[in-house]
Amino acid sequence: MDSQNLIYETAGAVAIVTVNRPKVLNALNRAVLLELDQTFAGIAANRGIAAVIVTGAGEKSFVAGADIAEMSGFGVAEAREFSRLGQQVFNRIEELPQPVIAAVNGFALGGGCELATACDFRIAATKARFGQPEVSLGVIPGFGGTQRLPRLVGRGMAAQLLFTGDMISSEEALRIGLVNKVVPAEALMEEAKAIAGRIAGRGPLAVSAAKAALREGSNMDLNRALAYEAELFAGGFSTADQKEGMAAFLQKRQADFKAE
Ligand code: CAA
Repeated sequence: MDSQNLIYETAGAVAIVTVNRPKVLNALNRAVLLELDQTFAGIAANRGIAAVIVTGAGEKSFVAGADIAEMSGFGVAEAREFSRLGQQVFNRIEELPQPVIAAVNGFALGGGCELATACDFRIAATKARFGQPEVSLGVIPGFGGTQRLPRLVGRGMAAQLLFTGDMISSEEALRIGLVNKVVPAEALMEEAKAIAGRIAGRGPLAVSAAKAALREGSNMDLNRALAYEAELFAGGFSTADQKEGMAAFLQKRQADFKAE
């Protein structure tokens, strides 16, 4: 599934998607967005993949935003189309059945911060930097930044980041809940793979259902969200994985899940 601007690798049941335009700090142009869309569509249909890691190529950057050179010539209609394309791709990541971890190895700015926030959670290298600098360019985020960031870090903190365009350190990102863990750069992929590997060892249908409950529930009032959770919980009892998981516990052995 390699493409021009992405590297696609697998390690067992874990897929690693690397945005690979290091000369422009992995900036997202239309071509990369379309490749990401295609790659994630393939992953969604691949039952052999239980978890995904997204990262950026090179030492310096995760993704330094949408491609400013490409955007600079846009008119209103093209800008709207670009925004909707990015939103569609990031929605696909959010709606992917498998969990997606962002391994933030450097700059996660603008569209890069938006890509990271569309993932289920983020771990970062110490040198990673986060920000939504769009207002410095005279525009606002267009790939979900005004919506996902406040849902993650709260409206006040998101407002400060969106209005100042300031970059924050990985430590500050940890403090405000934007990332779950900060590790030295050389340990980042090992840490991401270790977490993804633990997820891959759990019941895949259950992990997917937990992801769906988190995502869909956050758009519902509490009572509807609890009813949705109960439906997904009950649905688990129609699966072979539930029988295997509980039998394995009672027999004091490792479960062997089949995603059935
Ligand atoms: N788009 C296009 N090219 C980019 C880029 C981007 N977002 N970010 C960096 N590059 C390019 C630079 O132009 C430069 O290219 P050249 O070597 O050809 O000059 C190369 O990558 C290396 O970058 P710098 O020389 O600038 O590296 P630096 O270490 O001095 O600075 C940086 C690093 C602070 C990340 C700086 O590159 C920067 O500010 N980048 C832009 C960040 C930004 O504004 N992102 C938001 C984009 S808008 C957006 O994302 C909208 C949206 O939500 C849809």
